[in-house]
This record gives sequence, C-alpha cells and structure tokens, in this order.
Amino acid sequence: MRRAKITIVGAGNVGATAAHWCAGAELGDIVLVDIPAAGDMPAGKALDLMESSPIMGFDAQITGTSDYADTKDSDIVVITAGSPRKPGMSRDDLLATNAKIMGIVSEEVKNTSPNAIVIVVSNPLDAMVQRCLEVTGFEPQRVMGQAGVLDTARFRTFIAMELGVSVEDVSALLMGGHGDTMVPLPNYTSVGGIPVTKLIKKDRLEEITQRARYGGKEIVDLLKTSAYYAPAAAVAQMCEAIIRDKKRVLPAAAYCETEYGVGGYYVGVPVVLGACGVERIIELDLSESENADFQNSINAVKELVSVMKSLT
Ligand code: NAI
Ligand code: 2OP
Repeated sequence: MRRAKITIVGAGNVGATAAHWCAGAELGDIVLVDIPAAGDMPAGKALDLMESSPIMGFDAQITGTSDYADTKDSDIVVITAGSPRKPGMSRDDLLATNAKIMGIVSEEVKNTSPNAIVIVVSNPLDAMVQRCLEVTGFEPQRVMGQAGVLDTARFRTFIAMELGVSVEDVSALLMGGHGDTMVPLPNYTSVGGIPVTKLIKKDRLEEITQRARYGGKEIVDLLKTSAYYAPAAAVAQMCEAIIRDKKRVLPAAAYCETEYGVGGYYVGVPVVLGACGVERIIELDLSESENADFQNSINAVKELVSVMKSLT
C-alpha cells in the first residue's frame, strides 16, 4: 500500500516539529519545503530526522527541498510558512507579511497538489485559511485551519494540573477565532465524564479559562518566539484523523456558511475530521452568553479578513 504523502510548507519551528511528530507516528512520507533563501536547511533537518528513524523505530521517507515539484500530488499539505510572533506582537500584527506569503504558497499548492487536503497553521490563522481557500479555489471541506486542537490542549493541560488528574481524562471544547476573543466552553468540558463545573469553583475556572485564552502569549513571553511543540502535535493529530479516516471530533477552523449564521468565514467550531477533510460541522445550542461571546469572536474574524482584503 502506498504511504500517504504529507508536505509541510515552512521548515521552521512548527514545520520541522510537525514533521517529527508525523514521522514518529508513521503517518506517511514527508516533504519539508522552504524558500530558496533557506538554503540546505530543509534538507538538513529532513536528513537528521531520517537518521533518527532506526533509533526510534519508524519507517518514513523524509526529504527537504525548495522545489515544489518534489511535493507533487501530496495527500495533505500543512502550511506553516510565515513569520511567528515576537514579544509584544499580536497574531494580527503578522497580517500583511503572512497574507502575501500565503498567497504565494497557496498558488504553488493549487498547481502541484490539486487534490490535497490543506491544513493552515500560519497566523493570523482565521484570515490566513480564508486566503488559502480563495487562492486555491479548493472545496471548503478540503481547507481548514489548526487552532482549536492547540487551544483546547492548553485548556485541558491547565485543568489536569489544577485537579492533579491525567490529561487523557480531560475533554474540552473551545470555539471562535484563534485570538484573544476565543471562547473556551466550560459547559462542554468534562473530566472522566464529570462536568468540570462540578469540580472547579466558578472563579477559579474563570482564571484557568483566561490562562488558556492567553496561552499563546504566555509561551511567546517565555520563548521570545511562538510555541511549536504543542502546535505541531496538534497538526499531527489532525493529519492522523484524515489519513486514518478516524472521524475524530475535534475543534478546527472550518468554513462556516449557514452554520452558526457565520456567512462564509473561517472560525473555530467542532468538526468531524476524516478522509474527506471536514466531513461535518457540529452545531451546538449555545447559551445566551456563550453565543454573545462567539458572535463577538466571529466579528473579530470578519474585521481581520476585511483588513486583509484591503491589503491584498
Ligand atoms: P519559523 O520562523 O520558525 O518558520 C517559518 C518558516 O517559514 C521559515 O523557515 C521561513 O523561511 C518559511 N517561509 C517563509 N516564507 C515562505 C514561503 N513563501 N514558502 C515556504 N516557506 C516559507 O516560524 P514558526 O514558529 O514555525 O511559525 C510559523 C507560523 O505558524 C507563524 O505564522 C506562527 O505565528 C504560526 N503559528 C500558528 C499556530 C497555530 O496554532 N495556528 C501556533 C504556532 C505558530
Ligand atoms: C499560539 O497560539 C502563536 O498561535 C500561536 O501559540
């Protein structure tokens, strides 16, 4: 059986780490692509990773290149190309630079892997994935953004730390854009099936929710660049759901038309992820205050997309 072919555009922190997680899980053969100015860096990272395979016990061909011909007919393309945040920057500060890069990369993807499923990671996420959809012209179910798996992983981590329980038993949901307006949903969060609201007092839960909302900034302040281990792990989980057709229910930035009355924008919502990409968007009955927060987040995404359109 042919292995899946996964192209990762951008061989920087998130891209190379995603290659690491995907290879280790034997999800397929991996092509790391970067710009010609990156020189032999993608090839060097790819070879180094390949040489870890006899030790770690995985089989995968990993190559690095700046030539999109090597990415031809990929099954999945993960786009991490672009600048990361530096201290003091918001994700939105990256808009102009990364929108330009996203346009160039999406054109290449459209020409070399016309049947691929695309997972966008570059920030500001919700605007970048919209740009990718517009430039590739792919069906919306084949173009999605990674944010919710990461943001809920942060929320799950903090809840597990608070309660001293396994992260595996914490299940959480978070919706909206990948920014400060994201909406963690304690009412849809549970620990071993027990609603988290029964285990953690309201005020403390609100503090944990805030920490999750600003989880990206917390890492930038420590690292002086943006996070990559957890974001890359999130990418690998989404790739696995698609390649193994697992029908995982995960939060992702998905194109919502009538869903939640969004009207043709990408926002974080729970989806069913399988071989066809976003196979279904799950619509929840949100409470009045949850819905108000979600609408506020949707409005922030719309504003971001409108600024992007004025720049491109
Ligand atoms: P990085 O700077 O380590 O790597 C980015 C790579 O993209 C660089 O190697 C650069 O040469 C490459 N690149 C630039 N233009 C390119 C082009 N036209 N074609 C191919 N490659 C190109 O940055 P890092 O930390 O890997 O972050 C990448 C992006 O992901 C940033 O925009 C960051 O904000 C975003 N991010 C998003 C997350 C999410 O949850 N959605 C989480 C973490 C980062
Ligand atoms: C994060 O949430 C910066 O989007 C990136 O860590």
